[in-house]
Amino acid sequence: MTRIDKLLAAMTLEEKIGQLNMATVGHAVTGPVLASGVIEGIRAGRIGSLLNIWGAREVHAVQKIAVEKTRLGIPLLIGFDVLHGHKTIFPIPLAEAALFDPPFWERSAREAAIEAAADGITMTFAPMLDIARDPRWGRIVEGPGEDPWVGAEFAKAKVRGFQGTGLPEGLAGASAVAATAKHFCAYGAALAGRDYASVDVSERLLHEVYLPPFAAAVAAGCAAIMPAFNDVAGIPMTAHVALLRDWLRRDTGFDGVIVSDYNAIAELLHHGVAGDLAEAAAAALLAGVDIDMMSNAYSQGLPEAIAGGLVSTDLVDSAVRRVLKLKEHLGLFDDPCRRGSAETLATAPAAAKARIELARELARRAIVVLANDHVLPLSPSLRHIALIGPLADARAEMLGPWAAAGSATGPVTIREGFAAALPDAEIAFEAGVAITGTDMSGIAAAREICKGAEIVLLCLGEAANMSGEAASRANPGLPGVQGALAAAIFDLGKPVVALIFSGRPLMIAAIVEKARAVVATWFLGVEAGNAIADVLTGKFNPTGRLPVTWPRDVGQVPIFFAARPSGRPANPDDHYTSKYLDMPVGPLFYFGHGLSYCRFILTNLRTSNAEFRLGGELTIEVDALNEGPAAGEATVFLFARDVVASVARPSLELKGVGKIALGTGEGGTVCFRLAAEALSFPGRDLKPVLEPGEFLLLAGQSADPRQMLSIKVRALPG
Ligand code: NOJ
Repeated sequence: MTRIDKLLAAMTLEEKIGQLNMATVGHAVTGPVLASGVIEGIRAGRIGSLLNIWGAREVHAVQKIAVEKTRLGIPLLIGFDVLHGHKTIFPIPLAEAALFDPPFWERSAREAAIEAAADGITMTFAPMLDIARDPRWGRIVEGPGEDPWVGAEFAKAKVRGFQGTGLPEGLAGASAVAATAKHFCAYGAALAGRDYASVDVSERLLHEVYLPPFAAAVAAGCAAIMPAFNDVAGIPMTAHVALLRDWLRRDTGFDGVIVSDYNAIAELLHHGVAGDLAEAAAAALLAGVDIDMMSNAYSQGLPEAIAGGLVSTDLVDSAVRRVLKLKEHLGLFDDPCRRGSAETLATAPAAAKARIELARELARRAIVVLANDHVLPLSPSLRHIALIGPLADARAEMLGPWAAAGSATGPVTIREGFAAALPDAEIAFEAGVAITGTDMSGIAAAREICKGAEIVLLCLGEAANMSGEAASRANPGLPGVQGALAAAIFDLGKPVVALIFSGRPLMIAAIVEKARAVVATWFLGVEAGNAIADVLTGKFNPTGRLPVTWPRDVGQVPIFFAARPSGRPANPDDHYTSKYLDMPVGPLFYFGHGLSYCRFILTNLRTSNAEFRLGGELTIEVDALNEGPAAGEATVFLFARDVVASVARPSLELKGVGKIALGTGEGGTVCFRLAAEALSFPGRDLKPVLEPGEFLLLAGQSADPRQMLSIKVRALPG
C-alpha cells in the first residue's frame, strides 16, 4: 500500500472532506468571506489547505499544528496569488506580455517562486491565462492579452518558472511552488466587460481561442487548474462537466488538482443551478472540482449530498487522492517546513540584487513607445524639465493591482528615476490633480512650472486598483479631471511626452493627438521609475510591443486582430460595408505596435518549401535591417491566413514571434520553424484538420495589415 492508500483507508469522511477544504487566514483579503476558527479547523482535520498566509514563521507554525496535532498528520497546502512577483514586484502580466519573450517570462516566475517558497507558499494561483479582448474588463491586467498563441507560450513559460521544471528535485524543491492555471475558461469574454458576468461564446471560439493556453499549461505539467467564476452558455464553470471532466481531464489528460475560485461553489446557488449547498457541492464534485476555496459547501453540503445519493464517496476519494498526491509531489510529507527553512536564494544579498536588476530589465522591456514625433529619446542637453501629473510621484501605485507580499514603500517613483538619471537637469514637479476626483485647483500651479520648462513629462492614468478583480470600467478613459489637466498643459504649446499608467489600454485618442510622444508605462513594479528613465533618456532602446489591440474608443470593443473577414469588408467609400459612420474601424494602435529609436526594415520573406503536408515543417526566413541611428532589437511577428477553408478563418493568425538584436546599419535574418500542424484548425466537427490548399504567410512588425510582407505556400493532401 502506498502512503496515500494507507491514509485514505484510515480517514473518516469528515477528514476526507477536510482535505478538500481551503480556508483563508486573512493576511490578505482577496474575497468577500473570511473564515473563522481556522486553527481549530486545522486541529480537527476539517481544513486541508490555506490561502492568504505567508511568512516562514507563520506558515511553519500552522504546518506544525497540521502535522503534529492532528490525528493523521497531513501537512497543508499554502496558496497565494503570486501573479507578478512575491516581494520583488515585477511589471503587471499584461506589461510583461509586451516583451514577447518566453525566457524572461520564465525567469520572473522563477524568481517569484523563490521568494514565495521562502515565505512558506506551496501553491500560487497563477498564471492567469484568460484571453482578453475587452479593456473594460479590469482583469485584462492579469494575463497575456488578446492572442491564444501568446497565451500558450506564456502558459508554458510561467508553469516552468513557478514549478522549477528542470531543477533536480522538481516540484519537491525548496524553491518550487505548484502553479494554478486560471481562470478556466473564457472568463475574459464576460458580458459587456463586467467582471463575474455571464459568458456565451461558441464552442468553436472555445477551441480556437480560450482553451489553447490551458492545453499548453497542462502539457507543461501544471499542477492545478482553477475554474472561472462565470458560466459558459448557462453552465457555471465550477460545475461544467463537459469542460472540466470531459475536455480537461479526459481529453488533455490533466490529472492534477482542480481548485475552485473563492466561494465559487456556494455561488452556484446565485447562478441558479443549485437549490442548496448539498446540490452545489454535488454539482462541483461531479464536474471534478477537488478543492473548495472558501465556500464551506463541501464541508456543509457534501455529507448530505452523499447521504441523499447525489454523489458517491468514490468521487470524494478520487478528489482526496489528487490533493494528497499534490502534497506528496511538493515534498510536504517528507518535510512540511522545507520551504523557508534554510538560508535560501530568496534572501542571499547577491540574489536579491540580481532580482532587482531583473525587475528593471523586465520593466524597461515592457514599456511600449506608442508615438514619437522626434522628442524621444530626450536630448541630453535638456536642463529644465517639468514633471506633471498624479502618477509622477505615486509610489504605491507602481505595484499594480496584485502586489502579493510587495511593500508599498518598495517602488522607485518616476520623480526619483529621473532625478537619478538626469542629475544635471532641474526637474520641477507638480501633480496638478489627483488620479480621481474633481479638484482642479492645482492645475494653475502645474501650468506655472511648465512655463519655464523645455519639455513636459505628463504622467497620467489609472490608480492600480482601477484594474484587476472587480474593477471593470464602462468608460476606461483617463479618470477624474486628468483630461482637463492635459488640456491645460497642451494649451501652453510646450512639447509634451505623455506617460500612460494603466492596467489596460485606455481611451486616449485626445492625448495622442496633442502629445509629441506617448508611452504606455503600465504598472511596472519596484523599478518603475528607473526603467522609465532608462527608456526616455535613450539609455535603453525600447523593445516593448502591444500584446493587445489599443482601441480608439470604447465603442469599438471588442477589437482584436484575429477577427474573421466580413463578406463586406470595411470600405469608407462604400456605404454597405462593415464599418462605423462615426469613426474609423481600425484601432488607435495595432497589436504588436511599439516604436524604438531606430528604424527596422523587413525584406525578402521566403520559405524553404512552398508545398508541405501534415507532419512536415516549414522554415520561414525574413531579413531585417537596422537603418539606425541606434543599436536595437527588432521584433518580427509571423502570421498566417488560410485563404479558402471549410470554415471562415481569421484574417490573421499569429504563428510565431522572432527577435533579433542589430547594430546600426546591421542586417540579419529572423528564422521561424513552423510545424504544418500549426496551420490546422478545428474543422466543422471541431476536430483539428489541415485542409489542402493555399495559405498566406505574413511577416510584419505589428498586426497592421498595410505593412506586411507575404508569401504563398500550399498544403498538399494527405
Ligand atoms: C478570486 C480570484 O478570482 C482568483 O483569481 C484568486 O486566485 C482568488 N480570489 C484567491 O485570491
